[in-house]
Amino acid sequence: MARAKITIIGAGNVGATTAHWCAAAELGDIVLLDIPATEDMPKGKALDLMEASPIVGFDANIVGTTDYADTKDSDVVVITAGIPRKPGMSRDDLLSTNAKIMTAVCEQVKKTSPNAIVIVVSNPLDAMVQQARKVTGFPSARVIGQAGVLDTARYRTFLAMELGVSVEDVSALLLGGHGDTMVPVPSCTSVGGIPVTQLIAPARLEEIVQRTRDGGAEIVKLLKTGSAYYAPAAATAQMVEAIVRDKKRLIPCAAYCDKEYGVGGYYVGVPVVLGAAGVERIVEIELTEEEKAGFQNSIDAVKGLVKTMGELLAS
Ligand code: NAI
Ligand code: 2OP
Repeated sequence: MARAKITIIGAGNVGATTAHWCAAAELGDIVLLDIPATEDMPKGKALDLMEASPIVGFDANIVGTTDYADTKDSDVVVITAGIPRKPGMSRDDLLSTNAKIMTAVCEQVKKTSPNAIVIVVSNPLDAMVQQARKVTGFPSARVIGQAGVLDTARYRTFLAMELGVSVEDVSALLLGGHGDTMVPVPSCTSVGGIPVTQLIAPARLEEIVQRTRDGGAEIVKLLKTGSAYYAPAAATAQMVEAIVRDKKRLIPCAAYCDKEYGVGGYYVGVPVVLGAAGVERIVEIELTEEEKAGFQNSIDAVKGLVKTMGELLAS
Protein backbone atom coordinates (compact mmCIF):
# COMPACT_ATOMS: atom_id res chain seq x y z
CA MET A 1 0.00 0.00 0.00
CA ALA A 2 1.33 3.43 -0.95
CA ARG A 3 2.25 5.80 1.83
CA ALA A 4 -0.15 8.65 2.53
CA LYS A 5 0.92 12.01 1.09
CA ILE A 6 0.69 14.72 3.74
CA THR A 7 1.19 18.35 2.74
CA ILE A 8 1.80 20.98 5.41
CA ILE A 9 1.33 24.56 4.26
CA GLY A 10 3.31 27.08 6.31
CA ALA A 11 6.73 25.77 7.33
CA GLY A 12 6.94 27.93 10.45
CA ASN A 13 6.79 26.78 14.05
CA VAL A 14 3.51 24.84 13.96
CA GLY A 15 3.99 23.54 10.41
CA ALA A 16 7.54 22.27 10.87
CA THR A 17 6.73 20.77 14.27
CA THR A 18 3.67 19.01 12.81
CA ALA A 19 5.99 17.57 10.17
CA HIS A 20 8.27 16.41 12.98
CA TRP A 21 5.50 14.61 14.91
CA CYS A 22 4.05 13.11 11.68
CA ALA A 23 7.46 11.84 10.57
CA ALA A 24 8.27 10.37 13.98
CA ALA A 25 4.95 8.48 13.93
CA GLU A 26 5.69 7.35 10.33
CA LEU A 27 2.35 8.65 9.06
CA GLY A 28 3.44 9.08 5.43
CA ASP A 29 5.48 11.14 2.98
CA ILE A 30 5.52 14.84 3.82
CA VAL A 31 5.63 18.01 1.71
CA LEU A 32 6.41 21.19 3.62
CA LEU A 33 5.40 24.32 1.67
CA ASP A 34 5.95 28.00 2.36
CA ILE A 35 5.86 31.25 0.36
CA PRO A 36 8.57 32.01 -2.23
CA ALA A 37 9.89 34.84 0.00
CA THR A 38 11.17 32.19 2.41
CA GLU A 39 13.43 30.93 -0.41
CA ASP A 40 15.09 27.65 0.60
CA MET A 41 13.87 27.57 4.23
CA PRO A 42 11.26 24.79 3.69
CA LYS A 43 13.87 22.73 1.80
CA GLY A 44 16.33 23.16 4.68
CA LYS A 45 13.79 22.09 7.32
CA ALA A 46 12.63 19.11 5.23
CA LEU A 47 16.17 17.86 4.62
CA ASP A 48 17.15 18.35 8.26
CA LEU A 49 14.10 16.35 9.38
CA MET A 50 14.74 13.61 6.85
CA GLU A 51 18.32 13.28 8.12
CA ALA A 52 16.84 12.39 11.54
CA SER A 53 15.16 9.33 10.04
CA PRO A 54 18.04 6.82 10.50
CA ILE A 55 18.31 7.85 14.17
CA VAL A 56 14.63 7.86 14.99
CA GLY A 57 13.87 4.98 12.64
CA PHE A 58 11.21 6.16 10.25
CA ASP A 59 10.90 5.84 6.49
CA ALA A 60 9.41 8.88 4.80
CA ASN A 61 10.20 11.09 1.88
CA ILE A 62 10.19 14.68 3.17
CA VAL A 63 10.25 17.49 0.63
CA GLY A 64 10.45 21.24 1.23
CA THR A 65 9.10 23.54 -1.47
CA THR A 66 7.48 26.82 -2.45
CA ASP A 67 5.74 25.25 -5.47
CA TYR A 68 2.23 23.79 -5.19
CA ALA A 69 3.06 21.35 -8.03
CA ASP A 70 4.99 19.32 -5.43
CA THR A 71 1.84 18.99 -3.30
CA LYS A 72 -0.24 17.50 -6.13
CA ASP A 73 -2.80 14.88 -5.10
CA SER A 74 -2.10 15.00 -1.39
CA ASP A 75 -4.29 12.82 0.82
CA VAL A 76 -4.18 15.27 3.72
CA VAL A 77 -3.40 19.00 3.62
CA VAL A 78 -2.65 20.78 6.90
CA ILE A 79 -2.86 24.58 6.72
CA THR A 80 -0.77 26.48 9.26
CA ALA A 81 -0.04 29.45 6.97
CA GLY A 82 -0.54 32.82 8.57
CA ILE A 83 0.74 35.09 11.27
CA PRO A 84 0.78 34.00 14.92
CA ARG A 85 -0.06 36.06 18.00
CA LYS A 86 2.41 38.40 19.66
CA PRO A 87 1.99 39.51 23.30
CA GLY A 88 -1.11 41.68 23.72
CA MET A 89 -2.74 40.39 20.53
CA SER A 90 -5.89 38.28 20.57
CA ARG A 91 -6.49 35.52 18.05
CA ASP A 92 -9.06 37.81 16.42
CA ASP A 93 -6.44 40.46 15.71
CA LEU A 94 -5.12 37.98 13.18
CA LEU A 95 -8.44 37.88 11.33
CA SER A 96 -7.88 40.21 8.41
CA THR A 97 -4.36 39.11 7.44
CA ASN A 98 -4.98 35.42 7.87
CA ALA A 99 -8.33 35.42 6.02
CA LYS A 100 -6.54 36.71 2.92
CA ILE A 101 -3.76 34.14 3.33
CA MET A 102 -6.32 31.35 3.85
CA THR A 103 -8.17 32.37 0.68
CA ALA A 104 -4.99 32.35 -1.41
CA VAL A 105 -3.84 29.00 0.01
CA CYS A 106 -7.22 27.29 -0.46
CA GLU A 107 -7.50 28.40 -4.09
CA GLN A 108 -4.26 26.48 -4.69
CA VAL A 109 -5.29 23.46 -2.62
CA LYS A 110 -8.56 23.18 -4.52
CA LYS A 111 -6.68 22.97 -7.81
CA THR A 112 -3.79 20.74 -6.77
CA SER A 113 -5.34 18.31 -4.26
CA PRO A 114 -9.07 18.15 -5.06
CA ASN A 115 -9.62 14.96 -3.06
CA ALA A 116 -7.67 15.90 0.05
CA ILE A 117 -8.90 16.11 3.59
CA VAL A 118 -7.98 19.58 4.86
CA ILE A 119 -7.05 20.30 8.46
CA VAL A 120 -7.00 24.02 9.24
CA VAL A 121 -4.84 25.27 12.12
CA SER A 122 -4.37 28.99 11.36
CA ASN A 123 -6.13 31.45 13.66
CA PRO A 124 -8.69 32.66 14.41
CA LEU A 125 -9.46 29.01 13.89
CA ASP A 126 -13.25 28.88 13.68
CA ALA A 127 -13.38 31.63 11.06
CA MET A 128 -10.41 30.31 9.08
CA VAL A 129 -11.91 26.84 8.71
CA GLN A 130 -15.22 28.38 7.57
CA GLN A 131 -13.29 30.32 4.91
CA ALA A 132 -11.35 27.21 3.88
CA ARG A 133 -14.57 25.31 3.23
CA LYS A 134 -16.06 28.22 1.29
CA VAL A 135 -13.02 28.63 -0.98
CA THR A 136 -12.30 24.93 -1.60
CA GLY A 137 -15.97 24.00 -1.95
CA PHE A 138 -15.02 20.59 -0.53
CA PRO A 139 -17.69 18.59 1.34
CA SER A 140 -17.76 19.60 4.98
CA ALA A 141 -16.58 16.15 6.07
CA ARG A 142 -13.25 16.93 4.36
CA VAL A 143 -12.59 20.35 5.91
CA ILE A 144 -11.90 20.26 9.64
CA GLY A 145 -10.33 22.60 12.18
CA GLN A 146 -7.82 21.76 14.91
CA ALA A 147 -8.51 23.33 18.28
CA GLY A 148 -10.35 20.91 20.54
CA VAL A 149 -7.58 18.33 20.73
CA LEU A 150 -5.18 21.05 21.88
CA ASP A 151 -7.59 22.73 24.31
CA THR A 152 -8.58 19.37 25.80
CA ALA A 153 -4.91 18.36 26.09
CA ARG A 154 -4.17 21.54 28.03
CA TYR A 155 -7.12 20.87 30.32
CA ARG A 156 -6.01 17.25 30.84
CA THR A 157 -2.46 18.40 31.59
CA PHE A 158 -3.63 20.87 34.24
CA LEU A 159 -5.99 18.30 35.80
CA ALA A 160 -3.21 15.71 35.99
CA MET A 161 -0.86 18.30 37.54
CA GLU A 162 -3.52 19.21 40.12
CA LEU A 163 -4.20 15.62 41.14
CA GLY A 164 -0.65 14.29 40.79
CA VAL A 165 -1.78 11.51 38.45
CA SER A 166 -0.84 10.32 34.98
CA VAL A 167 -2.24 12.35 32.09
CA GLU A 168 -3.18 8.99 30.58
CA ASP A 169 -5.86 8.58 33.23
CA VAL A 170 -7.50 11.94 32.55
CA SER A 171 -10.28 11.96 29.98
CA ALA A 172 -12.02 15.26 29.21
CA LEU A 173 -14.11 17.18 26.73
CA LEU A 174 -14.28 20.87 25.81
CA LEU A 175 -16.75 22.25 23.27
CA GLY A 176 -17.23 25.49 21.37
CA GLY A 177 -14.91 27.91 19.63
CA HIS A 178 -11.13 28.10 20.03
CA GLY A 179 -11.20 31.19 22.15
CA ASP A 180 -12.18 32.70 25.41
CA THR A 181 -15.65 31.16 25.20
CA MET A 182 -14.64 27.50 25.08
CA VAL A 183 -16.97 25.34 27.19
CA PRO A 184 -15.80 22.56 29.52
CA VAL A 185 -18.20 19.65 30.01
CA PRO A 186 -17.64 18.40 33.58
CA SER A 187 -20.05 15.48 33.07
CA CYS A 188 -17.66 14.23 30.34
CA THR A 189 -14.51 14.67 32.44
CA SER A 190 -13.18 11.80 34.51
CA VAL A 191 -9.97 10.61 36.10
CA GLY A 192 -9.47 6.86 36.15
CA GLY A 193 -13.22 6.58 35.57
CA ILE A 194 -14.06 8.81 38.56
CA PRO A 195 -16.09 11.96 37.73
CA VAL A 196 -13.79 14.95 38.17
CA THR A 197 -16.42 16.67 40.33
CA GLN A 198 -15.76 14.03 43.01
CA LEU A 199 -12.04 14.86 43.04
CA ILE A 200 -11.78 18.64 42.67
CA ALA A 201 -13.96 21.28 44.38
CA PRO A 202 -16.05 23.46 42.02
CA ALA A 203 -14.14 26.70 42.69
CA ARG A 204 -10.76 25.08 42.02
CA LEU A 205 -12.12 23.33 38.92
CA GLU A 206 -13.27 26.69 37.58
CA GLU A 207 -9.74 28.07 38.07
CA ILE A 208 -8.34 25.17 36.07
CA VAL A 209 -10.92 25.75 33.33
CA GLN A 210 -9.96 29.42 33.20
CA ARG A 211 -6.27 28.52 32.90
CA THR A 212 -7.26 26.27 29.99
CA ARG A 213 -9.17 29.10 28.30
CA ASP A 214 -6.08 31.29 28.73
CA GLY A 215 -3.71 28.46 27.76
CA GLY A 216 -2.68 29.97 24.43
CA ALA A 217 -2.12 33.43 25.94
CA GLU A 218 -0.05 31.93 28.79
CA ILE A 219 2.43 30.52 26.27
CA VAL A 220 2.48 33.74 24.20
CA LYS A 221 3.35 35.69 27.34
CA LEU A 222 6.24 33.35 28.10
CA LEU A 223 7.62 33.04 24.57
CA LYS A 224 7.19 36.75 23.72
CA THR A 225 8.00 36.23 20.02
CA GLY A 226 5.12 34.00 18.91
CA SER A 227 2.61 31.42 20.07
CA ALA A 228 2.59 27.79 21.14
CA TYR A 229 3.66 25.09 18.73
CA TYR A 230 4.70 21.79 20.35
CA ALA A 231 1.25 20.93 21.70
CA PRO A 232 -0.65 22.45 18.74
CA ALA A 233 1.48 20.43 16.34
CA ALA A 234 1.06 17.22 18.37
CA ALA A 235 -2.72 17.79 18.32
CA THR A 236 -2.66 18.27 14.56
CA ALA A 237 -0.56 15.13 14.05
CA GLN A 238 -3.09 13.16 16.10
CA MET A 239 -5.80 14.27 13.65
CA VAL A 240 -3.60 13.34 10.67
CA GLU A 241 -3.04 9.92 12.23
CA ALA A 242 -6.77 9.38 12.78
CA ILE A 243 -7.32 10.01 9.07
CA VAL A 244 -4.40 8.14 7.45
CA ARG A 245 -4.79 5.14 9.76
CA ASP A 246 -8.62 5.28 9.71
CA LYS A 247 -8.61 5.13 13.49
CA LYS A 248 -12.10 6.52 13.99
CA ARG A 249 -10.95 8.53 16.99
CA LEU A 250 -13.71 10.21 18.97
CA ILE A 251 -12.10 13.60 19.56
CA PRO A 252 -13.21 17.23 19.63
CA CYS A 253 -12.62 19.06 16.36
CA ALA A 254 -14.02 22.17 14.71
CA ALA A 255 -16.63 20.59 12.45
CA TYR A 256 -19.32 22.08 10.25
CA CYS A 257 -22.57 21.92 12.21
CA ASP A 258 -25.84 22.70 10.56
CA LYS A 259 -28.70 20.92 12.33
CA GLU A 260 -26.29 19.43 14.85
CA TYR A 261 -26.57 21.24 18.16
CA GLY A 262 -28.84 23.72 16.30
CA VAL A 263 -25.76 25.65 15.13
CA GLY A 264 -27.09 26.55 11.67
CA GLY A 265 -24.13 26.28 9.33
CA TYR A 266 -20.97 27.22 11.24
CA TYR A 267 -17.78 25.52 12.40
CA VAL A 268 -17.55 24.95 16.15
CA GLY A 269 -15.75 22.51 18.39
CA VAL A 270 -17.80 19.34 18.88
CA PRO A 271 -16.99 15.66 19.44
CA VAL A 272 -16.56 13.88 16.10
CA VAL A 273 -15.55 10.46 14.84
CA LEU A 274 -12.47 11.12 12.72
CA GLY A 275 -11.39 8.49 10.18
CA ALA A 276 -10.38 7.93 6.55
CA ALA A 277 -13.38 9.88 5.25
CA GLY A 278 -12.67 12.84 7.53
CA VAL A 279 -15.50 13.77 9.89
CA GLU A 280 -17.49 10.54 9.69
CA ARG A 281 -19.97 11.52 12.38
CA ILE A 282 -20.73 14.40 14.71
CA VAL A 283 -21.64 13.10 18.14
CA GLU A 284 -24.42 15.03 19.88
CA ILE A 285 -24.45 14.83 23.66
CA GLU A 286 -26.87 16.01 26.31
CA LEU A 287 -25.77 19.26 27.93
CA THR A 288 -26.91 20.81 31.19
CA GLU A 289 -28.69 24.17 30.98
CA GLU A 290 -25.47 25.92 32.08
CA GLU A 291 -23.39 24.09 29.46
CA LYS A 292 -26.01 24.87 26.79
CA ALA A 293 -25.87 28.56 27.65
CA GLY A 294 -22.06 28.53 27.50
CA PHE A 295 -22.12 26.70 24.18
CA GLN A 296 -24.63 29.18 22.72
CA ASN A 297 -22.42 32.05 23.85
CA SER A 298 -19.49 30.40 22.07
CA ILE A 299 -21.51 29.85 18.88
CA ASP A 300 -22.57 33.51 18.93
CA ALA A 301 -18.92 34.57 19.25
CA VAL A 302 -17.99 32.39 16.24
CA LYS A 303 -20.87 33.85 14.19
CA GLY A 304 -19.70 37.37 15.04
CA LEU A 305 -16.17 36.51 13.94
CA VAL A 306 -17.35 35.06 10.62
CA LYS A 307 -19.48 38.16 10.00
CA THR A 308 -16.52 40.47 10.67
CA MET A 309 -14.35 38.35 8.39
CA GLY A 310 -16.90 38.70 5.58
CA GLU A 311 -16.96 42.48 6.03
CA LEU A 312 -13.14 42.71 6.11
CA LEU A 313 -12.78 40.59 2.97
CA ALA A 314 -15.40 42.66 1.14
CA SER A 315 -13.82 46.02 2.05
P1 NAI B 1 4.94 31.05 12.10
O1 NAI B 1 5.06 32.49 11.83
O2 NAI B 1 6.05 30.36 12.80
O3 NAI B 1 4.68 30.27 10.73
C1 NAI B 1 3.73 30.66 9.80
C2 NAI B 1 4.29 30.38 8.43
O4 NAI B 1 3.26 30.63 7.45
C3 NAI B 1 5.48 31.27 8.05
O5 NAI B 1 6.60 30.45 7.73
C4 NAI B 1 4.98 32.05 6.86
O6 NAI B 1 5.98 32.35 5.90
C5 NAI B 1 3.93 31.10 6.32
N1 NAI B 1 3.00 31.74 5.39
C6 NAI B 1 2.48 32.99 5.44
N2 NAI B 1 1.69 33.20 4.36
C7 NAI B 1 1.70 32.06 3.64
C8 NAI B 1 1.08 31.66 2.43
N3 NAI B 1 0.29 32.47 1.74
N4 NAI B 1 1.34 30.42 1.96
C9 NAI B 1 2.14 29.56 2.65
N5 NAI B 1 2.75 29.89 3.79
C10 NAI B 1 2.53 31.12 4.28
O7 NAI B 1 3.55 30.84 12.89
P2 NAI B 1 3.11 29.54 13.71
O8 NAI B 1 3.51 29.69 15.11
O9 NAI B 1 3.52 28.34 12.94
O10 NAI B 1 1.51 29.69 13.66
C11 NAI B 1 0.82 29.51 12.43
C12 NAI B 1 -0.67 29.79 12.62
O11 NAI B 1 -1.25 28.77 13.45
C13 NAI B 1 -0.98 31.11 13.31
O12 NAI B 1 -2.11 31.71 12.70
C14 NAI B 1 -1.32 30.70 14.73
O13 NAI B 1 -2.13 31.62 15.39
C15 NAI B 1 -2.02 29.39 14.48
N6 NAI B 1 -2.10 28.49 15.63
C16 NAI B 1 -3.29 27.82 15.81
C17 NAI B 1 -3.44 26.91 16.83
C18 NAI B 1 -4.70 26.14 16.97
O14 NAI B 1 -4.87 25.45 17.97
N7 NAI B 1 -5.61 26.18 16.03
C19 NAI B 1 -2.36 26.69 17.81
C20 NAI B 1 -1.12 27.38 17.48
C21 NAI B 1 -1.03 28.27 16.43
C1 2OP C 1 -2.98 28.53 21.03
O1 2OP C 1 -4.04 28.21 21.59
C2 2OP C 1 -2.21 30.33 19.56
O2 2OP C 1 -4.30 29.32 19.22
C3 2OP C 1 -3.02 29.13 19.67
O3 2OP C 1 -1.87 28.34 21.54
